[in-house]
Amino acid sequence: MIFQHEHILHTKQFSREDIEHICKTAKDMEDIILHKKPGWQLQGKIMASLFYEPSTRTRMSFESAMKRLWWEVITVSDSDGSSLSKWESIEDNAIINAMYSDILVMRHPEARSVMRTADVVTVPVINAWDGANQHPTQALLDVYTILKEKGSLDNLHITLVGDLKYGRTTHSLVFLMGLFQNVSFTFIAPEELKIPKKVTEFLDEKNIPYTETDSYTNGIKQADVLYVTRMQRERFTDISEYERLKDSFILTKEVLAKWKKDVIIMHPLPRVNEVDYEVDALPNAAFFRQAWNGIPVRMALLYLLLK
Ligand code: CP
Repeated sequence: MIFQHEHILHTKQFSREDIEHICKTAKDMEDIILHKKPGWQLQGKIMASLFYEPSTRTRMSFESAMKRLWWEVITVSDSDGSSLSKWESIEDNAIINAMYSDILVMRHPEARSVMRTADVVTVPVINAWDGANQHPTQALLDVYTILKEKGSLDNLHITLVGDLKYGRTTHSLVFLMGLFQNVSFTFIAPEELKIPKKVTEFLDEKNIPYTETDSYTNGIKQADVLYVTRMQRERFTDISEYERLKDSFILTKEVLAKWKKDVIIMHPLPRVNEVDYEVDALPNAAFFRQAWNGIPVRMALLYLLLK
């Protein structure tokens, strides 16, 4: 269960009960968003929003969440705007930011940078994506979206497609959904971008069924959730490999016609061209609703950590 002043660093720290508690609190937060006024007064909380890598959804929804709780935000929106660009250590920088705020939300390109921050401060730290490592609040809002759209987190088949090697949100989603009953997966990716062994080993350990394929036409019939990811150009060391693979899977209305009528389409965004714009008008397209859900879920986390 989430306690005051705990850190949120990785998805494996959550139990099924934690996720249910966060989702219930997020639902309460939707009432605050709609009615514009919290039922309680907790003034004077300050969030340091520390984004040393680009972000739209995570930073803006965290900052919006704070403001909807009637709290305050101080911001660093790129490395050049911070003394990290003057070779200050992550630890020294963290100690100072923690003096000026009640909670740190941090995105940084270096894996484990957020853990290093959490090691030296006494305020809660939320990982907003640390390089090749984790993006736990994205996974929580993904699970909340599935609950809202499908009515349950049990008895679901989830198909994930695209860059499953570098697309860390897919790994986190599998770890969280693996906590629920009768869940199964299909992974669609080219050989070079297959889901990593650490994920399939987790599924093997828990006896959770999954299949792997490299084609949209295989394994699509049973999916309740289709989770699409972009090819992450910035993670490829060989750009010619990116060029070769970038259009491997493009979701169009025509492709979708063969899927279950009530399949929901999710995407952590930003998209490049892996979901055709004509798909946006379909009721199945849940990705903008998913991005909006970042606000109540992040409000819930901030409230549970700071109340
Ligand atoms: N999904 C996500 O993390 O988006 P941003 O990079 O825009 O924050």
